Amino acid sequence: VRRHATEEGDAVSLFELSLVGGPWARRLARRRAGWDALPWGEGAPEADAAEMTAARVAWTRSAFSEYASAACFAEIAACLLAAGAPLDFVAAAGDFVVDEVLHAELSARVATAFGGAVALEVDLGRLVRPPVSAAPLLRAAELVVRTSCVGEALTVPILKATKAAARSPLVKAVVTRIVRDEVGHAQLGPWFLDWATPLLTDADRAHLGRVAGAAVRAFAPIFSAPCAGGGALGVLECARYDATFAAALDRNVVRPLAARGIAVPEADVAAATPG
Ligand SMILES: [Fe+2]
Ligand SMILES: [Fe+2]
Repeated sequence: VRRHATEEGDAVSLFELSLVGGPWARRLARRRAGWDALPWGEGAPEADAAEMTAARVAWTRSAFSEYASAACFAEIAACLLAAGAPLDFVAAAGDFVVDEVLHAELSARVATAFGGAVALEVDLGRLVRPPVSAAPLLRAAELVVRTSCVGEALTVPILKATKAAARSPLVKAVVTRIVRDEVGHAQLGPWFLDWATPLLTDADRAHLGRVAGAAVRAFAPIFSAPCAGGGALGVLECARYDATFAAALDRNVVRPLAARGIAVPEADVAAATPG
């Protein structure tokens, strides 16, 4: 891994994934079951060069965003432990770290099937923006709202639309595997908030609403960035992305949070709503 410091002093490196194998690979055998049977040779039926390039970029970025999700759930698990949260919440967050690193591996393999990952400079020291609150419970709540109630809640419908639009059998199969896990990741948020409700003040809830709003704003451009392709290889078209995003924002994010006393600021919703 090549590292160099940018002018801002951040440690940037080229994004690379590795495995050691042996007993550590065998630990994951059950989680990787069926991977060999995925249609690896059926990545790009009738794809042209531009589509292949867009797919390599999108799936490389996707591998990194899955890697960053793993870091978010690792931080959530640590905050839940510090907050003395129920053990099954902690275990779920820890388990989701494994899901996400496997998603990163799957995405990287898809990029390889399309001709290889592209060079991506990343700062592994800044995968998770630290929560601003001091209390462990509220720190956990900030991260859960950002990652599960916003990120995962929007990811699930976007992935389903990606799968529906994809012509590539490989993309359909891989996205099917990934979305199966993301559904569980999206469920952690509401469960956690229902448990935490009696422990949160009105000021806490107002703060969490602002956290959700900032996450919504941040999420919109991230996902709409790789939308240049025709959808065949897992790169969603802009128009389809925008429509899916707008519907999911209200149904999967704003309403479930409102039901738990957390209001996403209207300005943030408007800023993230296309058109
Ligand atoms: Fe994931
Ligand atoms: Fe996830």
